[in-house]
Amino acid sequence: MPLLVLNFEEKGIDEADLPLVAYGDMLFDSPQIFGDKAEALGIICATCHNRSDIDNRFFIPGVSHRPGGADVDGGFFNAIFNDFQDDALDTPSLRGIRFTAPYGRDGRIASLREFTRNVIVSEFGGAEPTPFMLDALIAYMNEFDFLPNSKIDRFGELADRSDASVTRGEALFNAPFEGIAGKSCASCHVPATNFTDNRRYDIGSVNGNYDGSRGGQFDTPTLINVKYTAPYFHDGSLPTLGSVVDWFNSMYALGLEDGQRADLTACLETIGGADEPYERFDDKATPFALAFAELTTFATTLEALIPARDTFHANLMLDAVITDLRQDISAMGNRDRIDQVIELAVGLSAIRSAIDADNWDLAASEWQAFKIKKNRL
Ligand code: HEC
Ligand code: HEC
Repeated sequence: MPLLVLNFEEKGIDEADLPLVAYGDMLFDSPQIFGDKAEALGIICATCHNRSDIDNRFFIPGVSHRPGGADVDGGFFNAIFNDFQDDALDTPSLRGIRFTAPYGRDGRIASLREFTRNVIVSEFGGAEPTPFMLDALIAYMNEFDFLPNSKIDRFGELADRSDASVTRGEALFNAPFEGIAGKSCASCHVPATNFTDNRRYDIGSVNGNYDGSRGGQFDTPTLINVKYTAPYFHDGSLPTLGSVVDWFNSMYALGLEDGQRADLTACLETIGGADEPYERFDDKATPFALAFAELTTFATTLEALIPARDTFHANLMLDAVITDLRQDISAMGNRDRIDQVIELAVGLSAIRSAIDADNWDLAASEWQAFKIKKNRL
């Protein structure tokens, strides 16, 4: 499971104290925001953008061209939006998304908010999200940080030059090449700004890939954490970082020798690496404990939604959390606690019924009761 690095956690803030972010986190995990087909399949943002990263096991025949990719405007989820182009894209990581505008691999949309609305409504056939829902999703995604990598400093330069091959690779990364009109890799993948210049280019990566693929422009992808997001390019056509280097070498006649290509690849692996890429589990920190902490955090948004008497957003959250809590019970390692967790799900259902009956006082007292039970667990 990829490690999720959230900016507020690094600052020592608890998500339960950030209701907007917690609500966005919940929406990111909720099929209810999508149209019938995606909802029935249980598709959520996190299906493809797994813990802000990617999921290379995702594959739906007719939607994916290869694992980890999807033709998001192919009409499978929303017939009206079908562009009738066979133009599946490899799912991009959302780590550091606030630094990597514009959005869409082709950088066609400047605003993350507009992009996100488009994902929900056009691509997945969902109902128009409320402004609060979009605020929440954006607030949450803006917390996605890159995985820390102590091998590079904050200017994107090598923190330690003891590895000769990586150091030679860095020099090549910064060296101007005649074949790219005097540019270096670093001209577009600017080290000091997260290895992107936030601009769009046609670098010739579409030519000869497949019929009906998109126009040639893509925005420069960041190279931070790139080690974990194979395959590469918009269509996932290059399997390894070495093959990307080979591609540039032959496409732009860079004239790199075998050893130089190995050095440049080693540099990309270092720039694109991380101190700890995956979540670590042990006896206490189990997948269930993680899911349970998440769900109860989502529920804390009731602290704001009940006083506001916000039926719509409270019910949306409760439906998502109740369904997930019931599902997660099956993954519980500690079978002794099952009854208590079921009791919590029942508690949330009681809040849901109280809200349906427009009895906000009862909803408030059921919520207090829920918190007590939860803390006892
Ligand atoms: C079926 C897989 C899938 C699901 C589900 C999905 N996405 Fe994506 N996402 C993609 C693909 C593929 C792209 C590239 C699309 C493009 O370039 O137009 C993408 C692109 C993005 C981007 C732009 C990233 C960038 O670097 O430009 C954002 C932001 C995003 N998705 C957010 C979301 C949100 C929020 C949800 C849920 C509401 C979601 N996605 C659901 C596959 C998915
Ligand atoms: C003119 C700007 C530009 C230059 C110069 C450039 N790149 Fe890129 N790079 C891009 C763009 C745009 C893409 C996205 C291509 C695509 O998705 O089809 C890309 C993609 C990549 C990727 C794949 C990232 C991913 O997540 O799929 C890597 C790795 C990469 N470049 C490394 C390099 C190296 C190494 C050099 C120097 C030899 C270099 N780039 C030179 C603009 C540039």
